[in-house]
Amino acid sequence: MLASYSKDAVAHAIERSLTRLGVERLDLVQLHWWDYDVPRYAEVARELARLQAQGKIRLLGLTNFDTARVEALVDTGIPIVSHQVQYSLLDRRPAATMVAACRARDISLLCYGSLAGGLLSERWLGVEEPPFPHANRSLTKYHLIIQEFGGWALFQELLAVLAGIGRRHGVSIGSVAIRHVLDRPQVAAAIVGATSTRHLAATLQAISLTLTAEDCRAVDSVLARAPGPDGDVYTLEREKGGAHARIMRYDLNTS
Ligand SMILES: NC(=O)c1ccc[n+]([C@@H]2O[C@H](COP(=O)([O-])OP(=O)(O)OC[C@H]3O[C@@H](n4cnc5c(N)ncnc54)[C@H](OP(=O)(O)O)[C@@H]3O)[C@@H](O)[C@H]2O)c1
Repeated sequence: MLASYSKDAVAHAIERSLTRLGVERLDLVQLHWWDYDVPRYAEVARELARLQAQGKIRLLGLTNFDTARVEALVDTGIPIVSHQVQYSLLDRRPAATMVAACRARDISLLCYGSLAGGLLSERWLGVEEPPFPHANRSLTKYHLIIQEFGGWALFQELLAVLAGIGRRHGVSIGSVAIRHVLDRPQVAAAIVGATSTRHLAATLQAISLTLTAEDCRAVDSVLARAPGPDGDVYTLEREKGGAHARIMRYDLNTS
């Protein structure tokens, strides 16, 4: 939500979603806040809780908040049940402090980026590092995460290890990558982007896949050499003027 949002605008946004979806109650509303320098997210969260008490919202969640603010919001009584964060083999920032904070407050993690926009797949195995920017903004975003992870060469080592694990189980790199995220503590779901049914079978294979201790050791041997990305959830993306912030779209509220 925009920092300039008023209480009325929050209620209006919820009414608009109810109308568009043709439902009387929204199953889950997730609050996102761009600018912590405008500390009105608590006020907006309280307004969402009020609309929830009126029956317009079933469950409240957050997305891309840092650990201290998740703790503060929940500890002041906002009934948050989930937090949507980027979590993948390449981006393990939630493991630093977010997972423990969410476990202590019974908040489930809903994870995006588990496939790094499709970069964690056979398509990129053995491929030379492409130049920036990509035609697809999502690939640019996750390519930047690969740079934080340790660069293209280490990424290729990871892909090769995942391909080997995939061969042992008869599944794809993507299936292994999704399973790895689902196996992290406090993770309730991986949100996998789909533009067609092309990857559906591979995505579903992740559900029945069981990674062995040997698989996990092979993955960990690469991850142990990855210096980043560092810091808390979404901190890099909030660095004004930084490479990760520059590619963000800030106003998603216009109807
Ligand atoms: N809260 C936030 O800030 C935030 C940010 C980003 C995304 N999201 C949410 O997360 C959803 C997913 O987005 P994402 O960025 O995380 O994308 P993603 O799931 O990491 O990547 C999706 C792309 O990966 C490829 N793919 C899909 N299934 C695959 C499989 N089984 N194996 C190999 N490749 C596969 C497809 O690309 P090709 O068709 O090109 O192969 C697809 O377009 C979004 O729709 C959105 O709801 C939230």
